[in-house]
Amino acid sequence: MTQPPERRAAVEGTDLTGTTALVTGSTSGIGREAALALGRLGARVVVHGRDEQAGSAAVEDLESVGADALFVRADFADVDDVRALAETVRAETDDLDLLVNNAGGFFREARLTDRGVGYTFHVNHLAPYLLTAELLDHLAPDARIVTTASEAHRGVTLDLDAVTAREGAAGWAAYQRSKLANVQFSAELARRLSARESTVTANSLHPGAIPGSGFTRFLPTPLSQGAKLLNAVPGVTSVRDGAAALVFLAASDRLNGVSGRYFSKQRQAEPSDAARDRTAQQRLWERSAELLEMQEPLASDASPD
Ligand SMILES: NC(=O)c1ccc[n+]([C@@H]2O[C@H](COP(=O)([O-])OP(=O)(O)OC[C@H]3O[C@@H](n4cnc5c(N)ncnc54)[C@H](OP(=O)(O)O)[C@@H]3O)[C@@H](O)[C@H]2O)c1
Repeated sequence: MTQPPERRAAVEGTDLTGTTALVTGSTSGIGREAALALGRLGARVVVHGRDEQAGSAAVEDLESVGADALFVRADFADVDDVRALAETVRAETDDLDLLVNNAGGFFREARLTDRGVGYTFHVNHLAPYLLTAELLDHLAPDARIVTTASEAHRGVTLDLDAVTAREGAAGWAAYQRSKLANVQFSAELARRLSARESTVTANSLHPGAIPGSGFTRFLPTPLSQGAKLLNAVPGVTSVRDGAAALVFLAASDRLNGVSGRYFSKQRQAEPSDAARDRTAQQRLWERSAELLEMQEPLASDASPD
């Protein structure tokens, strides 16, 4: 049995009583384990996903450790659902101390969403972009925004004209591009927050390669089952260890004031050249607003050098 994420992240002694966390994608996998860890540390937790049964079970588990929790269902392929999630969070909480943009995955759905955007790019990038924008004015002064990206972001670039094409809406390359978008989004968000002299921080991370989460659910069943078995192999990142990386960024004092960084597990790392390209980061930010037909968030602060 691996250590609880909060011990692995060396934040066991941290008291999060009085704080509120929204962890997207916390019905399963690393989001679920991170949500439970934050609850054990005293945070009130908003659980999110699509699976209502799994959401209720996560809330029950949180309540059993004494945490206050609620589940909000939202499909990230649906813009109205994401807006409704933000609205519920605003209505049900005083403010948010922690926004963990974690929902997402590797998808086989080679379709466009109702916004005419490739499914993977929409769910993994556009939805957290929109959710973050909708919650910016609901964040506590020292809030943290943590985005689950991946080392899979390496080796690709992002053609923003192609995100509306059906080809490339699913599969591994689409996943890689969406994770590159996660790293670029987080860096641009951090810079724009800092330009406003906001003390809210934004960082992204790779949680490890974790075969035991629900990540492999879209693989053919034998492969998916086989991947889950790997969870027990020593040296393979377990779901709890992956969650520890999230909990580290969310709760460690070592992250106080740290923003605009990328972490591989619990270590700061240099993302790819494409991820660090400031022009690309800015274009992604602007294009995302265009695709969502919304005003650019944090627009009055042009991205400074
Ligand atoms: N596992 C890995 O090796 C690995 C490596 C690097 C990065 N990551 C990233 O880690 C994050 C969490 O993945 P995981 O490995 O923990 O996999 P997981 O067990 O499949 O968890 C994915 C979570 O995202 C939610 N989700 C998926 N599609 C959604 C949609 N359309 N709308 C709303 N919620 C949706 C799921 O909720 P429902 O099931 O309730 O819909 C679930 O709670 C993802 O962003 C993934 O890209 C994973």
